[in-house]
This record gives sequence, structure tokens and C-alpha cells, in this order.
Amino acid sequence: MSTDDWKRQAAEQALGYVEDGMKLGLGTGSTAAKFVELLGGKVRSGLNVVCVPTSEATRAQAAALGIPLTTLDETPALDLTVDGADEIDEELRLIKGGGGALLREKIVALASERVVIIADNSKRVDVLGKFPLPLEVVPFGLKATERLIARLAADNGCDGEIKLRIGTDGKPFLTDNCNHILDCAFGSIDDPESLEDALKLVPGLVESGLFLGIADVGIIAGPKGVEVLSELDIDFDEDI
Ligand code: 5RP
Repeated sequence: MSTDDWKRQAAEQALGYVEDGMKLGLGTGSTAAKFVELLGGKVRSGLNVVCVPTSEATRAQAAALGIPLTTLDETPALDLTVDGADEIDEELRLIKGGGGALLREKIVALASERVVIIADNSKRVDVLGKFPLPLEVVPFGLKATERLIARLAADNGCDGEIKLRIGTDGKPFLTDNCNHILDCAFGSIDDPESLEDALKLVPGLVESGLFLGIADVGIIAGPKGVEVLSELDIDFDEDI
């Protein structure tokens, strides 16, 4: 089985949380895309849901599959969001934003009663931070914002290169909200909560890719099968 198969397995399992009539948040990325694809099949078979996508890419995919779409303005309270992650630790803390959709992903997740994260087992970590932490920042004052982030991060034991994300066109990557992304290669983030609190002091920083206390369930698929982690039942001892 390949990583792609494990992503699909996790996505399949997440379908079990979907009930007829639900209002759903749809995540962004290759794993979330598998969920959207499977959901499209269910909709074609008669499932009645209405969904808020977390990115323009997911919006386009869902629309092409005939999935009914809405917005948070029309539907501000959602039942369930299913999304991927770049890293997930034993307390269901996440790094997200590898696909650049972290701001909308966090807004949609926090509008949802329940958040289910789907991932292959390469995303599972003991300590967050090996994946460079994405931070969405406004273009104005970028260098000053970067300096302040570096200082506050260092105060929180996080050093490492901070790089402006470049898009496939060779220009600074633009999010769906017309902001930039700084990718922070901290290596390990020993106290994600205190780092998150510090980052909130940066005026040019719109949102961080740390998702703390947001995920309710993690569905992680790997060579040894699918493991479901939840707030009530966290057991990372067994390798999958
Ligand atoms: C996008 C995200 C994605 O959920 C994350 O990057 C995981 O993507 P993939 O499933 O392709 O590995 O946070 O902003």
C-alpha cells in the first residue's frame, strides 16, 4: 500500500462521521481532497449535506463533484469539519498550512462542532516543528513582521530559518486572502501554547499554522492499519 492508499483509507473512515443533513467544513490538501472525492460519491447517491470549503481549490473540486456549497456568512455554525494536517502530535495538536489555507481552515474548524483530522502516519510526530510552521502574514511591513516573529520565537526557544514562501510562478506565494506565508523551520516546538500566545502579539501576523485544542479526532492510516485518536482515547504507544 502507498501513502496515497493510506490517505484514502483515513478519508473513508472519516465518512463514518458524516450524517444526512449535516453542515460540513471541507479541508484543503491532498488528503482532504480524497475525502471530498468520496463525499461527492455519497452526494450522487443521495446524501444531503451542505458544505463550506476552506480554499478556492477545494471549492472548485467540490463544485465539480456537485456537492452543495454554502458560506460561513449563510451558515455560520457547522456540524463537522474534515481536514488534513502536516503534523499531528499525541495531544491532537497540529501544524497546518502546508497548502497555504491555514487561515480559512482555522476559521472553518472553529465554526464546527467537531473537527476530524485525516492523515497518513508520516504526519504523526512526538514533538511539533519538524515541518516548518506556516504563518500567514500581511504583505505590508513584511520584513519588520519577520524580525518580530524571529525575536518572539527565539524568546520561546524556537530558532531557525524563516523563509518567505515562493509560489510556482517564482513570486511570493499569495493565499486565497491575498496574504503571504512565512515558513518557520524551528525544528522542534517544545511549548506550542506559549509560542502561539507570543505570536498573537505580532500585528502583521494574521494567523499561525498551530492548531491547538481544535481537533477532536485524528484518523491516522499506515502500514499497520487505521488508528482513531480522540480527546477521550489518546494512545500513541502502538506504532502503526
Ligand atoms: C493546507 C493544509 C493541509 O491540510 C496540509 O498541508 C496537509 O496536506 P496533505 O494532505 O496534502 O498532506 O493544512 O493548508
